[in-house]
Amino acid sequence: MTHRLPLRLVVYVANYVGRDIDADMAQIEQASHRHNPSGQITGALLFDRGQFVQVIEGPHDAISLLLDRLQRDPRISEWQTLLDQDTDHRSCESWAMRILRTDNGERVPVAILDAFRDKYLRTFKADASGFIELFTAIMQ
Ligand SMILES: Cc1cc2nc3c(=O)[nH]c(=O)nc-3n(C[C@H](O)[C@H](O)[C@H](O)COP(=O)(O)O)c2cc1C
Repeated sequence: MTHRLPLRLVVYVANYVGRDIDADMAQIEQASHRHNPSGQITGALLFDRGQFVQVIEGPHDAISLLLDRLQRDPRISEWQTLLDQDTDHRSCESWAMRILRTDNGERVPVAILDAFRDKYLRTFKADASGFIELFTAIMQ
């Protein structure tokens, strides 16, 4: 895998406002497989309680293009960036966007996600796999 450094690491949370999550998830997964490998983008998409948390890492230009597409996607609203910073290493090694889904219920308040991020960053250097572990734990 080629690495053009520095990479950009973005973590955001957004609400799902589509109508058919199964169909949308399948479509998102296909789009990710179509576009992310050529953009050298890796990461994970978590869906839980009507809310997405996505962690993406990759070259700056490819991440900017993906963010433009995502922010125009009508299936999500109330976008909030939790983290946007350079990283000097890629921590997700597979090109396939990891997709994780748990049960449906109440949304996790963004303030809680913010608080966890701040606590995490006080102890650890930000990387994608750390966030994936963290959010998987919070959202279960
Ligand atoms: C929460 C969420 C995450 C997404 N993640 C990706 C992604 O990682 N890569 C991608 O290409 N498209 C992703 N999409 C889909 C894009 O918004 C867009 O629909 C798609 O890239 C368009 O591809 P197409 O023109 O080939 O159909 C995501 C959409 C949502 C709602």
